[in-house]
This record gives sequence, C-alpha cells and structure tokens, in this order.
Amino acid sequence: MRRWTLLLAGAALWLFLAAIPALADGGPHVAAVNNGSSSLTADSCAGCHRAHTASAPKLLNTAEEDLCLTCHGAQSSGATTDVMTGVQYVSGAQHDVAASAGTQLGALRNGGFNQARIGDPFRYTIDNGGSATRKAKVQVSATAKDVTSAHITMPDVNNLVQPGKAWGNGTNGSGVGPTVTLGCTSCHNPHGNGNFRILRSFGTTESGIPTGINAAWTASLVDAGVVTTTTYRTAASHGLNVGDTVTITGNSSTTANVTGIVATVPASNTFTLTSVTPGSGTGGIVTRSAALGVRVTDAPLDSDNNPANGIDNATKNYTVIQAAAPNFLLYASQVTTGPLTGDYLHRVVPWNALTGTNQDAPNGIPAAVGTQPAFNDQINAWCSTCHTRYLANQNPTTSPANGTVANSWGTPRAGDTTYMYQHRVRSDRACTTCHVSHGSNAVMDGTYSSTFTYPDGTTASASSRLLKVGNRGTCQMCHEPTGTDVIGNQYPPAPYPVPSTP
Ligand code: HEC
Ligand code: HEC
Ligand code: HEC
Ligand code: HEC
Ligand code: HEC
Ligand code: HEC
Repeated sequence: MRRWTLLLAGAALWLFLAAIPALADGGPHVAAVNNGSSSLTADSCAGCHRAHTASAPKLLNTAEEDLCLTCHGAQSSGATTDVMTGVQYVSGAQHDVAASAGTQLGALRNGGFNQARIGDPFRYTIDNGGSATRKAKVQVSATAKDVTSAHITMPDVNNLVQPGKAWGNGTNGSGVGPTVTLGCTSCHNPHGNGNFRILRSFGTTESGIPTGINAAWTASLVDAGVVTTTTYRTAASHGLNVGDTVTITGNSSTTANVTGIVATVPASNTFTLTSVTPGSGTGGIVTRSAALGVRVTDAPLDSDNNPANGIDNATKNYTVIQAAAPNFLLYASQVTTGPLTGDYLHRVVPWNALTGTNQDAPNGIPAAVGTQPAFNDQINAWCSTCHTRYLANQNPTTSPANGTVANSWGTPRAGDTTYMYQHRVRSDRACTTCHVSHGSNAVMDGTYSSTFTYPDGTTASASSRLLKVGNRGTCQMCHEPTGTDVIGNQYPPAPYPVPSTP
C-alpha cells in the first residue's frame, strides 16, 4: 500500500523536478544556498516547504520521513540515492529497475530501510611475516533482500519490531538508555551544514537532537583529574577529537577549570588543551561545548563550475565502491566498476586481499590531517553522541583513576553493570566497520544469534543489529580463534572470487 502512495508522490514530484537543473551535489541541502550567503533566490525551499498549503507542521510539504522519501524513496526520481532499497542510480537514470539494466551505480554504504543488497562474506588468509592474517570483505548481492534490522522502524514498510531504545545513551550507571523515536532529521540536517552526509553537528548551535537523548554525554567524564601538569585524564574513553571545545569545571586546581580547545589526545583517556597548563588537581567534569559540536567533516566540494578543471559540482559517490588516495572515488562520475562491485565491510580500502591497507575514508580523510581526525575516529565519536557507552577503548585500572589504563575487554567500565567489558572501538575498527547506519538484510538464524537479548534483557525478532554479516560472521571477518586456519586458505573456496578483484 505504502509503496503505491510513494509511487504517486514520486510521479507528482517528477513533474516538479523537471524544472530543477541537473542534480547538484548535496541536492537541496547545500548550506551556502539555504543560508543565503551565496544567493537570495534559493529554489530549494520549494522542494520541502509550502507557505499556505503545507500538509505537515513546520510548513512541510509532507510529513517526515515521507518528505525525504519523495526524493530518496524507491520509485522517486528526485535524488540518485534510494535509501529504501539501498541503491544509488546513475544520474538521470530511471529508478526501481534491475541492476542489469545499467542504471545502477552501486550499493549504498548504509544498506536500506526496507531492503538492502548486503551479500556474502569472503575471507582470505595471507602471510603476514610468517603468521597468518585474515583479510575479509562483504560482497554486494545481485538482488535486494528485506531488512532484518533498521535504525528507523517503519511498521507498514519494513515490519520490524524493535525496542526503540537509544542503547548506552547517558552517563555510566544510568541504565540501558532512554526510549527515543528516530526520524531522518534526527541524524541529518535537511538545510545542510557542510558536514559529511549533512550529519547533524550534535552541539550547541544545531537543533534537532531527538527528544530523550542526553546529548551532554560528556557528563560521563566524571574524573577530570590531571595526570601531569599539562595533561587531563578522564574516567572512561572520552571520544574527544582534536579541535573540540571543552569546558572543565570542578577540578581542585583553579588553573584547570577553563574552556579550551583540545590540542592533542595522547590516549583515549587523556587530552591536552591549547595553551593551557592545568597544574595538578583532581575531580571535575568535562563538557564538550564546541559551537560545532560532534561533527564528521566532509571533503571540500569541487564547485568552480568549470568542467575543464575536472570533476565539477558533481553528484557524490555514496556506494560501497571505494578507492584510496588521491581521488577516493568521491564523485559518482569516478565510479566505473559496475553495480555489483565494492565491499560493505570496508575495513581496508580499496578491497584487495593481498595489498589493501588504507582505512575507510568516504570523506577523503583516512588518517588525521592537522586538526581533522581520521574518518573512523570522527564517526565513532558521532555515533557515541547517542550510544555514549559503546565508545570503548581503555578503562582505568584503579578507582579513583590514577592515569593507569588497560584495554576495555580486560578492564570494566567504571560504575556500570551493563556496559562493562567491551570490544575496543578504534580508528582501525569503527562502528561503521561492523554496522550499517540505515538497515541490514543480514540473517540471524543460528541458535545463539537469533535469541540473544538486548541490553535490557528483552528479545526481539531475530534482529540483525545493523550488522553486515549473518549470525556472528562479523567476528570471523577479523578473528580465527582456533589457530588452525593456514596461509592461503579462503572461504568460499576458489575460484570464487579471486582474492584481489574488487
Ligand atoms: C530537504 C528538505 C528541506 C529544504 C530544502 C528546506 N527545508 Fe526548511 N525544514 C525542513 C524540515 C524537515 C524542517 C523541520 C525541522 C528540522 O527537522 O530541522 C524544516 C524547518 C525549517 C524552519 C524551522 C526551523 C526550526 O528550527 O524549527 C525554517 C524557518 C525553514 N525550515 C526554512 C527553510 C528555508 C527558508 C528553506 C530554503 C532556503 C528551507 N527551509 C529548505 C526541510 C527542508
Ligand atoms: C540520534 C541518536 C542516534 C545516533 C546518532 C545513532 N543511533 Fe543507533 N540507535 C538510536 C536509537 C533511538 C535506536 C533504537 C532504534 C529502535 O529500536 O527502533 C538505535 C539503535 C541502534 C542499533 C540496534 C538496532 C536494532 O537491531 O535494534 C544499533 C546497532 C545502532 N543503533 C548503531 C548505531 C551506529 C553504528 C551509529 C552511528 C553510525 C548510531 N547507531 C547512531 C539512536 C541513535
Ligand atoms: C541513526 C542515524 C540516521 C538516521 C535515522 C538516518 N540516517 Fe541517513 N545516514 C546516517 C549516517 C551515519 C550516514 C553515513 C554513514 C557512512 O557512510 O558511513 C548516512 C547516509 C545517508 C545517505 C547517503 C547514502 C548512504 O547510504 O550512505 C543518505 C541519502 C541518507 N543517509 C538519507 C537518509 C534518509 C532519507 C533517512 C530517513 C529515511 C535517513 N538517512 C535516516 C545516519 C542516519
Ligand atoms: C526535492 C528532493 C529532495 C528531498 C525532498 C530531500 N532530498 Fe536529500 N538529496 C537530494 C539530492 C538531489 C541529493 C544529492 C545526492 C543524490 O542525488 O542523492 C540529496 C542528498 C542527500 C544526502 C547526502 C548529502 C551529502 O552531504 O552529500 C542526505 C544525507 C540527504 N539528502 C538526506 C535527506 C533527508 C534527511 C531528507 C528529508 C528531510 C531529504 N534528503 C529530502 C534531494 C532531496
Ligand atoms: C567489532 C565489531 C563491532 C564494532 C566495532 C561495533 N559493534 Fe555494535 N555490535 C556488534 C555486535 C556483534 C552486536 C550484537 C550484540 C552483541 O554481540 O553484543 C552489536 C550491537 C550493537 C547495538 C545493539 C544493542 C546491543 O548491544 O545488542 C548497538 C546500539 C551498537 N552495537 C552500537 C555500536 C556503536 C555505537 C559502535 C561504535 C562506537 C559499535 N556498535 C561498534 C559489533 C560491533
Ligand atoms: C574489524 C576487525 C574485528 C572484528 C570484526 C572483531 N574483532 Fe575482536 N579484535 C580485533 C582486534 C584488532 C583486536 C586486538 C586487540 C585489541 O585491540 O585490544 C581484537 C580483540 C578481541 C578480543 C580480546 C582478546 C584478544 O584475543 O585480543 C576478543 C575476545 C575479541 N576481539 C572478540 C571478538 C568477537 C567475539 C567479535 C565479534 C562480535 C570480534 N572480536 C570482532 C578486531 C576485530
């Protein structure tokens, strides 16, 4: 039923869109257009708002998420990205047709809300200086399959039943997390903000943080004690990035209580501030107060409107097809390998079982550049705005913390009985290494994987938890716990697929 409604909405919109010029990068979400700094004749507002005849609050044409799906839906033509079936189309091509028709650019990085094309895993064991190391990828499926978990449950579309809890949100010991309803604009800023995928800057200047979320997550940093006269330490992995503005209060050293900019992050439990010598004190609270908040930075736009200079004001590549520097395949026009190529796992890019070493960088930043942290560090901090206590690297070994820390899988999170021992989340394994952000079709049909409980003890329909691999194949993408797998092994066996092909 719903699909037909969307089809009609899409058809109506198609007429309207005929008047919009070639799809500009970022579509109607370009901050410089919407904020009036580049023109005062913006066209974009009409894509989403009506002045006298709006059918939803805030003068919106249509209520969210339907508003977004008028362009990003399965049959819609207003955007190249279809987040319902997890496909990006070639610019200007007809939607909702088979991959073989030559209209699909590739599979979207984040799966989809109704269907996704996450395919079979593949693993190859290489010789790493005499010891066996595994390289794995998750292939693209030729057909779209129904999702088994999604960040937004749409009862009449994906039929999912999920607890609706922002797991891990809040300070240590504050329970499993609040009940929160998500919409597209919980995570994305429809007016644009210059961030990667217009992801919300969870900070003081941007509204839109969903009701119930405790965004002052840094309150969990109960110990702003000072390790040396130049370095602060926190009681749990802080997730601060270089460039963040933080305010320290309640430390026993008066010189420590300042608002400053994070200069370095020597360890996940320590940080320094630009031009601040805190002295030696104990206690206090660190609050992230940056005007920009927690943000994921984007690659600069190529928009000089001169095709002679190469890529121009182009539609971006939102697919799992990636390359390393120098071009990172940031634009759709740079993708030439076909819609069934790419790697959902993107632990190393581009996929190559024998040589791949670069980390995921869809924003062009695989490793820290100046004050810009690597993509993985940025996205880890971003997801952790809501899932505060999933950010785990090291925990203090003593209480109160004296600066000595050990791995979070061997040392419990202080003061928390649920999120205690945790897999480390680091720049070489991000939230988005194991999870997609929209929805996954991975199948959890095993005895253990289908019945394990959520953090509050409830079981839901075999949710795939936004994971990319069935059951706990996720673990096997990196681990072989028996030590019996030998160099040269691959699964599935040769010749499918040859290890070094994309
Ligand atoms: C892609 C769709 C989209 C476009 C394009 C768009 N808006 Fe919005 N606008 C929204 C949504 C959705 C909201 C609801 C608030 C939110 O979620 O941010 C909103 C809210 C607003 C608000 C209320 C802000 C608030 O904080 O409550 C104003 C004012 C506004 N829009 C003006 C504009 C103007 C002016 C333009 C053109 C320059 C524009 N919008 C373009 C989708 C859009
Ligand atoms: C704006 C807050 C917010 C942000 C940001 C956020 N989440 Fe969530 N997340 C939620 C809420 C709320 C739920 C519960 C959804 C439900 O049960 O319907 C959830 C659920 C989940 C689930 C469980 C899905 C299931 O099967 O029940 C996973 C996994 C997850 N999030 C991972 C992530 C990752 C990875 C990121 C970063 C890419 C992220 N989240 C960013 C709020 C957020
Ligand atoms: C819980 C947060 C969250 C919600 C809710 C969410 N998104 Fe996203 N979305 C993300 C993140 C994070 C990314 C980029 C992550 C990456 O590429 O690693 C993304 C990427 C995208 C992209 C680029 C395509 C892709 O798959 O990478 C589009 C388009 C998009 N979102 C649209 C939407 C629309 C439309 C909705 C509502 C139907 C929505 N999003 C809801 C977090 C969210
Ligand atoms: C009038 C059509 C239209 C509407 C409505 C619309 N979008 Fe878009 N959006 C686009 C186009 C066009 C792009 C450019 C990329 C593409 O072709 O998919 C885009 C790009 C995006 C991106 C990627 C931005 C980037 O940084 O590259 C996200 C995320 C996104 N939209 C989310 C949303 C959300 C959330 C809503 C609802 C509030 C929405 N869109 C409503 C047309 C639209
Ligand atoms: C090494 C892989 C891996 C990484 C990295 C990872 N997760 Fe998970 N995540 C899982 C697995 C596996 C599950 C299923 C539950 C379990 O086994 O504990 C899960 C479950 C979840 C859930 C659902 C609630 C629950 O615990 O069952 C949320 C929310 C979540 N992860 C968020 C995150 C966030 C946020 C990050 C980054 C800070 C992250 N995950 C990083 C593997 C990972
Ligand atoms: C993206 C790769 C990746 C994935 C996926 C992954 N791990 Fe790990 N895991 C690592 C790395 C690398 C370490 C190394 C030690 C560290 O960083 O503390 C590690 C450490 C561990 C440890 C600590 C003890 C040890 O042997 O080092 C355990 C236990 C563990 N992982 C289990 C799991 C389980 C269970 C899963 C699936 C839910 C999983 N891992 C998924 C990469 C991964």
